[in-house]
Amino acid sequence: MALTFSKQLQNYQNIIEKALDGLLPEQDCPQKEGIDAMRYSLLGGGKRIRAILVLEFARIFGVPQDQAMPFVAAVEMIHAYSLIHDDLPCMDNDDFRRGKPSCHKQFSEASAVLAGDGLLTHAFLAALQGGLQSGVSPERVAEAAAVLAEAAGIDGMLGGQVIDLAIEGKQVEAGLHQKMCSLKTGALIKASCLMGCILGGASGQDKKISEEYAEKIGLSFQIIDDILDCTGQQEILGKPIGSDEGQHKTTYVTLYGLEAAKKMSQKLSEEALLCLERLPLPDRFLFELTDMLLKRQF
Ligand code: IPE
Ligand code: IPE
Ligand code: MG
Ligand code: MG
Ligand code: MG
Repeated sequence: MALTFSKQLQNYQNIIEKALDGLLPEQDCPQKEGIDAMRYSLLGGGKRIRAILVLEFARIFGVPQDQAMPFVAAVEMIHAYSLIHDDLPCMDNDDFRRGKPSCHKQFSEASAVLAGDGLLTHAFLAALQGGLQSGVSPERVAEAAAVLAEAAGIDGMLGGQVIDLAIEGKQVEAGLHQKMCSLKTGALIKASCLMGCILGGASGQDKKISEEYAEKIGLSFQIIDDILDCTGQQEILGKPIGSDEGQHKTTYVTLYGLEAAKKMSQKLSEEALLCLERLPLPDRFLFELTDMLLKRQF
């Protein structure tokens, strides 16, 4: 019998957690404090959306789970690093993340900076070493790692964070704000889908549709993140409510208002579902995931 969506989601989350745990095991060594801080922020929380997207796109294009796993782990490590640094006092200054004290609160600011750096580096170790050992061709490993590097860096997530900080407290036009969101949030989501395509040798056409899908859900994801920052509940969301207002951020809510922002995320989600109709999907999982992302409360 086919698994229900929520069972399959849970399965994925368990597999991902186990893989991450194995790639960064607890150790009694002189650098233990760093490993502890990295594990604290990497394990035991998070929706694992990016990781699930790598696994799903890999599955569509016939890649066995163990071959996708190095890239699954890598994207979650980079995401965890981005959250650690995002919460620092010099950035969004948030004390809670995933229902527990942020990394710099639990450890120290210096440890949080190093844990973030450590996770970023460890991501590429996992991707390259694990990828080469998994039997995927070296060309595909290199291509997927390059896509991830670009998505994490100045032309991707990090670039978006630079713009986010640069426009704090300023009037900003819609185009630049959208660019910021598609970089800070969209880039890693797009890379997740693309890595699955690359590992599976997807056609140019399928890659293009997958990218289009990812761009839609990436923007919708940030719109909902902005909405939840206003209307969510901290106990469910696991991070502070009202952080954006406190930091004078320009968000989809400040630019367009709550109702219009909701409508924008709905429209993007509908368009994303249309992209899925054009891909050779084995079942409804990605449709359900897209729906869940729109309705999420955390
Ligand atoms: C939060 O990402 C940061 C954004 C890019 C909006 P997630 O909402 O995916 O965070 P976790 O991993 O589930 O905690
Ligand atoms: C951050 O966006 C995106 C990252 C690259 C980490 P936010 O600053 O809105 O993310 P949250 O709300 O703190 O998770
Ligand atoms: Mg931020
Ligand atoms: Mg933040
Ligand atoms: Mg936010």
